[in-house]
Amino acid sequence: MTLPFNPPERADWFIRDRFGMFIHWGLYALGARHEWLMNFEEIDPSTYYKYFQHYDPDLYNPREWAETARRAGMRYAVITAKHHEGFCNWDSQLTDYKVTNTPYGKDVLQEWVTAFREAGLKIGFYYSLIDWHHPDFTIDSMHALRNHPDALEMNKIRDMNRYRAYLHGQVRELLTGFGKIDLIWFDFSYPERAWHDGTPGKDHNDWDSENLLKMVRELQPEILVNNRLDLPLGAADFYTPEQYQPESWPTIQGQRVMWELCQTFSGSWGYYRDEQTWKSPDQLIKMLINTVACGGNLLMNVGPTARGTFDKRATAALEVYHEWLRLHGRAIYNCTQSDFTPPPGCRYTQNGKRLYLHIFSWPFQEINLPGLAGKVEYAQFLNDASEILLAAPHHITLVGEEAPEVEAGTLTLTLPVQKPDVQVPVIELYLK
Ligand code: GLC
Repeated sequence: MTLPFNPPERADWFIRDRFGMFIHWGLYALGARHEWLMNFEEIDPSTYYKYFQHYDPDLYNPREWAETARRAGMRYAVITAKHHEGFCNWDSQLTDYKVTNTPYGKDVLQEWVTAFREAGLKIGFYYSLIDWHHPDFTIDSMHALRNHPDALEMNKIRDMNRYRAYLHGQVRELLTGFGKIDLIWFDFSYPERAWHDGTPGKDHNDWDSENLLKMVRELQPEILVNNRLDLPLGAADFYTPEQYQPESWPTIQGQRVMWELCQTFSGSWGYYRDEQTWKSPDQLIKMLINTVACGGNLLMNVGPTARGTFDKRATAALEVYHEWLRLHGRAIYNCTQSDFTPPPGCRYTQNGKRLYLHIFSWPFQEINLPGLAGKVEYAQFLNDASEILLAAPHHITLVGEEAPEVEAGTLTLTLPVQKPDVQVPVIELYLK
């Protein structure tokens, strides 16, 4: 039985486009050892300032980035306007801690928006609710200064009311200064993370999420908003599982939700020079298929270097998507979960009367598709549009002919012995 799924009309593009680029770019690119380095290493803002003083991405060319994203088959992009470190990638009027005051001197966000829009990509801003630099953001269990001997003392003069005003003001700047913004990605609330002195983690009260969301919807009525504001079901447009692969369509209270999986090429969002856990081409492609097969989007992350470039390993990973999507895009864009159950080692995606069989594990000579007998009019490989015969081959052996045993209602496809030379082969089934 199909569960209800009622996305708003303004989400049509999102569901259609399926694949986007996440970009984590900030001062942490200089440290080149995780975007949380300020927190992990408990660096205080005055020490962290060295990155600000040396920020000069001289090779930054957002047109090249946009071209690379398009080539990889990505149709939208989300960039960090501000991450937890507090540094702002635009010329905010509310702080000095911004890109225009670094040696680079220019508004990287403005240039980015122009380039990505021109390339025809939908655009989104990631905005960190958390801020380890702002002097009014109270120190808590997740703060870079959590173990500072004077932390409690320092909190006495910190005022979340002032921080809230700053946060709301910055979001207003982002949603009024750059034209139409298609998506906003807030990160994140942590009510369950209490500190040792009993101070609770931050939640919707700290951000005044209700009014923040109200303002967002007023300023950009078409925008899509993610779910990390700690608001009740129904407030957010989409859910954001992170760094794990859901195996079925995520539901809340029996209702399928719109969702977007975010993933990294290696184990960090920001540029991490020495990180080695880069995903294989096989994992990258299967991640995308698995996501769409469960009705979701994939937001794949790149952490550009402090020169403003995509590192070779990221470029190679993006090229894997280019290679595969060039031939198999039809099985991803506009597609969603199918009501048919795929055979073992396979996934289905579906777009109306086109059913796509993604074969993860290549079988010998035939494949059985339960429930599809009499329902398919034509079948072909997607990579070269070569016909796939709907009948099973005759099994002539030295001991005579053996009919393959299949359950009633099962359709058998005849396959070549050799797997086509693509990362994951896909058979396009035209349903009657
Ligand atoms: C996390 C991390 C963060 C990253 C984000 C992306 O919540 O705090 O560094 O930006 O996930 O989903």
